[in-house]
Formats: sequence, structure tokens, C-alpha cells
Amino acid sequence: MPNFRMKKEWWLSIRLIHWSMVSSVFILLASGFYIAYPISFGAGATADKFCVGNIRTLHTFFGVFLTFLMLWRAYLGIFTKFHATWIDLLSWTNIHKLINQVKFYLLISNKKPKHVYQYAPLQALAYSGLILLQFMIIMTGLIMVGANYHAGLSAFAGNLLKPLEIAMGGLAGVRLIHHIVSWGFIIFIMAHVYMAIWTDIVYKEGTISSMISGRVFRKAD
Ligand code: HEM
Ligand code: HEM
Repeated sequence: MPNFRMKKEWWLSIRLIHWSMVSSVFILLASGFYIAYPISFGAGATADKFCVGNIRTLHTFFGVFLTFLMLWRAYLGIFTKFHATWIDLLSWTNIHKLINQVKFYLLISNKKPKHVYQYAPLQALAYSGLILLQFMIIMTGLIMVGANYHAGLSAFAGNLLKPLEIAMGGLAGVRLIHHIVSWGFIIFIMAHVYMAIWTDIVYKEGTISSMISGRVFRKAD
């Protein structure tokens, strides 16, 4: 029977950001796809209702909320000693460990990649991809929010991002890219949740509950 040692893994702020991010991304996916493929509920002419407009307002609200969550996570990643910091995102640059992890997943090697505190190399790659997705969805989202305003913060963001809007071929192009990036989130979520469950079962260290309690059970060597 291996010896388990309890270890603090995730601070409260990281857990709060994680689950707020999860909730807002799920709401954004549902409301976003409703905007893309709207359907009308109840009796009466669609033109007399404002269903898509209301859902768009909800979407924008959670979009701006996600923007602030990402800024908060970036602040923690750069300025605090809490794990994980931006350095942990570079763990994939350890090519030897990266190859070991791939070999283990492909059942070529049965040597379990040692779990270091920082992200595992493939995990770091996935989170770097997620940051890129978040950056793109926020930029394109802010352009579309800004397009509705002539004054205020939204209009300021829209004007600031005008060169990006032009580079994407105008608002229609921005909307298309926003839509395509949404699918990137769906792919990330499927891989991420699968890996969280997989790690929980194979390592038996309480990976999933660690994102709730903040504590993990590490096997002593
Ligand atoms: C995970 C995050 C997000 C997902 C999955 C998502 C998804 C979507 C989707 C699928 C659409 C419909 C596009 C289409 O019509 O084909 C949409 C529209 C929209 N999104 Fe997002 N979005 C996200 C984040 C954001 C953010 C951060 C903002 C702004 C800060 C934003 C603002 C908007 C706006 C304003 C529209 C309406 C576009 C229009 O009026 O045509 N979204 N979103
Ligand atoms: C939109 C959906 C999700 C996003 C964007 C997301 C994002 C992230 C990020 C960025 C991290 C790294 C933590 C950090 O340093 O900030 C993480 C860790 C984690 N997530 Fe998620 N997550 C999502 C959904 C979920 C769901 C549904 C689960 C439940 C199974 C989950 C379970 C975990 C666990 C267990 C960890 C810690 C992994 C470890 O021990 O290294 N995530 N997630």
C-alpha cells in the first residue's frame, strides 16, 4: 500500500477563477450558438420579439466577465508565487520529458512520467493553446461589442482594435473567426475533461477533487 502525503496544490483564487471560467465558457457556448443558429419560442411574429437581442446582451456580459477573469489569472501568473506561474507554461520545452509523456500515452513505454508540481509538458502545451484561444475570442468579441457603440469603453476597445478588424476583412470576417475559435474551446474541453478523469483514475491522487478542495494526495517515493 503506497504512502500518501497531502499537499496544497491550488490556492483559492486559482480555484475561483477556474470554476468561474468554466461556468462562463459554458454559458458563452450555449448563448453563442443560439446567436449563430437562432430559433424562436412561443407564439407571435419573430420580428416582434427580442429574444436574440436579450441573449446577445447576456453573451456580452459573460464575455466581458471572461475578459476580467483572464486578466486576473494573467496577473497571478506573472506577479505571485502561487502555482502555476508563466514559467510552468514552458514545461514543454523539456523535450526529453515531452517525448517520455508521449511514449507513455501511446503505450510504447510503461514508465509513468513523473508528476512534477508544474504542468506536465503536454498539459503546458494545451494551456498555451487555451491562452491563444482566449486571446483570439476576447479580441474578436470586443470588436463586435465595440461596433455597437459610439462612445464609452466598448467604443474605445472597438476603435483600438480597428486595425485587427480590417485585417480580418471587416465585421463579417471577425464574426466568422469568433465562431471558428468557439470550436477550439469545444475541442479543448473534451480533451481537458478526458485527461482530468484519466489522470484521476490512473494516478489515484485525487486530481479532480484537487480543483475543489485545493489539496492533492501525492504518493511518497
Ligand atoms: C469561450 C468564449 C466564447 C464563445 C464560445 C463564444 C461564442 C460565440 C458564438 C458561437 C457566436 C455566434 C457567431 C456567429 O453568429 O456565427 C458569438 C457571438 C458573439 N460574441 Fe461570443 N463567444 C465567446 C466569448 C466572447 C467574448 C469574450 C465576447 C466579448 C467580450 C463575445 C462577444 C460576442 C458578440 C458581441 C457576439 C454577437 C455577434 C453578432 O452580433 O453578430 N464573445 N460568440
Ligand atoms: C471551459 C472549461 C474549462 C477550462 C477553460 C479549464 C481550464 C483549466 C486551466 C487553465 C487549468 C490550469 C489551472 C491554472 O493554473 O489556472 C485547469 C486545471 C484543471 N481543470 Fe479545468 N478547465 C475547464 C473545465 C474543467 C472541467 C469541466 C473539469 C472537471 C472535470 C476540470 C478539471 C480540472 C482539473 C482537475 C484541473 C487540475 C489539473 C492538474 O492537477 O494539473 N476543468 N483547467
